Amino acid sequence: TESRDLSGKTVLITAGPTREKIDPVRFLTNHSTGKMGYAIAGEAVRMGAKVILVSGPVSLAPPKGAEVIKVESAEEMYQTALAHFAEADVLIGTAAVADYRPKYIFDEKMKKKEGDQALELERTKDILFELGQRKEAQVIVGFAAETNDVEKHAMGKLTRKNADMIVANDVKQAGAGFGADTNIVTIYKKDGSKDELPLMAKTEVARRLLSEVVLLLKKDESK
Ligand code: C5P
Repeated sequence: TESRDLSGKTVLITAGPTREKIDPVRFLTNHSTGKMGYAIAGEAVRMGAKVILVSGPVSLAPPKGAEVIKVESAEEMYQTALAHFAEADVLIGTAAVADYRPKYIFDEKMKKKEGDQALELERTKDILFELGQRKEAQVIVGFAAETNDVEKHAMGKLTRKNADMIVANDVKQAGAGFGADTNIVTIYKKDGSKDELPLMAKTEVARRLLSEVVLLLKKDESK
């Protein structure tokens, strides 16, 4: 039986990598493929939600029924997510947003020269943090890709980013993280509880996560 528990709700999702320009032909990015975010978008549509998917450059087919807004840089992803945050009931940040961008974007292609070349970087905005500061009734879910001290880092992110849930994975484990169709995650919640899930398809992780979101939305409504 299909659950339509998200009907009437708007779910805003960030997904994929960002691209930070260096010059007209070069950029900084990462290995994110967008699979986790696109899986969540697809499941949220099936559960009846209006889905706005703010996506960095990926090669995945747009999930049927979702509004997909393609962006490139972290700044563009931030501005787009911000523009839709007020109408959202749920924000899920799966994007692997670049933490740094080149401080200067060169108008012309940089020419090679003798010797080393340094690239000055500056911080980008932390989208989840910024939107967490503007949170009204939204349920906010963040992801945490870690290689060590997963629990400590996940709990820190819950508080710092004003999130309701952090979905953490140890990206060093086989079958977890970038590019895979499966993931091994632990869901950390604000009440201090955690739910350690075994290896499962990203679509199944999406279902489990969204059913937790539904519970939180119901709790909010009964307040
Ligand atoms: O702090 P860290 O990058 O580990 O946090 C990961 C979470 O924060 C993810 O949900 C990611 O989408 C989000 N994030 C963001 N903007 C950034 C960096 C991370 O929204 N600039």
